[in-house]
Amino acid sequence: MSHTDILLGLQWGDEGKGKIVDVLSQNYNVVARFQGGPNAGHTIHFDGKKFVLHTIPSGIFREECQNVVGNGVVIDPVRFEQEITNLRSAGYQPERNLRISLRAHLILPSHRLLDAASEKAKGKEKIGSTLRGIGPTYMDKTGRNGLRVGDVFQADFDQKYQRLKLKHLDIVRSLDPSAQIDPIEENDFFSSLDNLRSLKCENTEYFLNQIQTQGENILAEGAQGTLLDVEFGTYPFVTSSNTTAAGACAGLGISPRRINKVMGIFKAYTTRVGSGPFPTELLDETGQKIREQGAEFGSTTGRPRRCGWLDLVALNYAVMINGVTDLMMMKSDVLSGFDDLQLCTSYLQNNSSLSELPMDLAQVVPQYDTLPGWNTDLTNMTKANQIPPQLLGYIRFIEQFTSTPISLVSVGPGRQQTLFL
Ligand code: GDP
Ligand code: IMO
Ligand code: MG
Repeated sequence: MSHTDILLGLQWGDEGKGKIVDVLSQNYNVVARFQGGPNAGHTIHFDGKKFVLHTIPSGIFREECQNVVGNGVVIDPVRFEQEITNLRSAGYQPERNLRISLRAHLILPSHRLLDAASEKAKGKEKIGSTLRGIGPTYMDKTGRNGLRVGDVFQADFDQKYQRLKLKHLDIVRSLDPSAQIDPIEENDFFSSLDNLRSLKCENTEYFLNQIQTQGENILAEGAQGTLLDVEFGTYPFVTSSNTTAAGACAGLGISPRRINKVMGIFKAYTTRVGSGPFPTELLDETGQKIREQGAEFGSTTGRPRRCGWLDLVALNYAVMINGVTDLMMMKSDVLSGFDDLQLCTSYLQNNSSLSELPMDLAQVVPQYDTLPGWNTDLTNMTKANQIPPQLLGYIRFIEQFTSTPISLVSVGPGRQQTLFL
């Protein structure tokens, strides 16, 4: 029986999606990205090598696996070409197992300019965007002004580009009169379009539906995380796409009736990059210790990630919104060496206890349950029966609180450091 599964982040991104998609890709014929763009940074470690993918799906390292950049993704052709070049210099031939939707929208140099101007204008209220042009590109998409991959094959592409660029410059100059597009960047943009044209650009929705009809399996790879979703995240401190399970259908052109498992991935603690509320954030040495042990620095921008305890109220919300069938807990090894571990099990707001995520997270005070930590190094473990009892207690507590089984525990960045329960 053909099945289409989704793997997505349940927190504020960087949960370890790239690692797990790479591990699981051997069970799928296709891996498909359905939203986001080069704001994502998905890290994969194997055979002593490390890759960070931004737009290309994490199944690319398995030749027999087809990889689809779906219609819901936004593509910066310059960064896309860099990713292709990096893979080629490592000995891969991504053109063989990569397909790009003709409907995916393009990030223009002027979208990035708009992103920067918008952040600057917001001042202290800035989102902390990755400045990759994501927000302005999705704005043009829903505003029905965007340019798509299919447009680069049309004779009037240059005219369409110039028209949109001038529109952007008008807006940018209302915020920053001196703003200009760097001619080198514009040149790079046009030369990178040749790379895009040389790749398999097609109506990927037909390909994906045929794959399903043939009985083959698809894994939809999410980017960002549920709390960055434009509908259900900590708005306005979110990204501009649907990072949640529903986004997979819209971003790939597949029916909800075909979705089987929804695998939700979370870190054993919580991190966030950029601005916005984060109730369980630790601004003390415990937060510092998690950042150091977990090497919590952004894969895309290198920014230090904010760190804190696991928030089970938020996790329950993410499980509900996505209909998660399987939980996967990442970076358990990072929590080794803490005497006690705290888990947020409710919020306090205006003296009343909340078990639900309110619209505005900035007003809540987290309430914690405490569980004993473990001192064991987990990074050499390969089997579930090696899990120390305190970690097992931590796992069972989360399973009970979320009424959802944890099917995988990750104990390091490598492919082998993965325990299936
Ligand atoms: P993604 O955006 O969800 O794919 O996650 P990122 O790649 O941005 O960040 C996850 C980071 O944690 C990467 O550097 C991974 O190599 C690393 N990582 C993944 N799983 C584990 C784990 O179980 N333990 C440790 N220590 N690191 C991990
Ligand atoms: P992956 O796929 C973590 C955050 C940014 C910022 C907000 C909006 O690697 O998990 P944007 O550039 O989208 O306008 O930024 O969202 N953000 C991420 N944080 N991981 C990501 O992707 C992110 N993509 C965007 O830091 O706060
Ligand atoms: Mg990341």
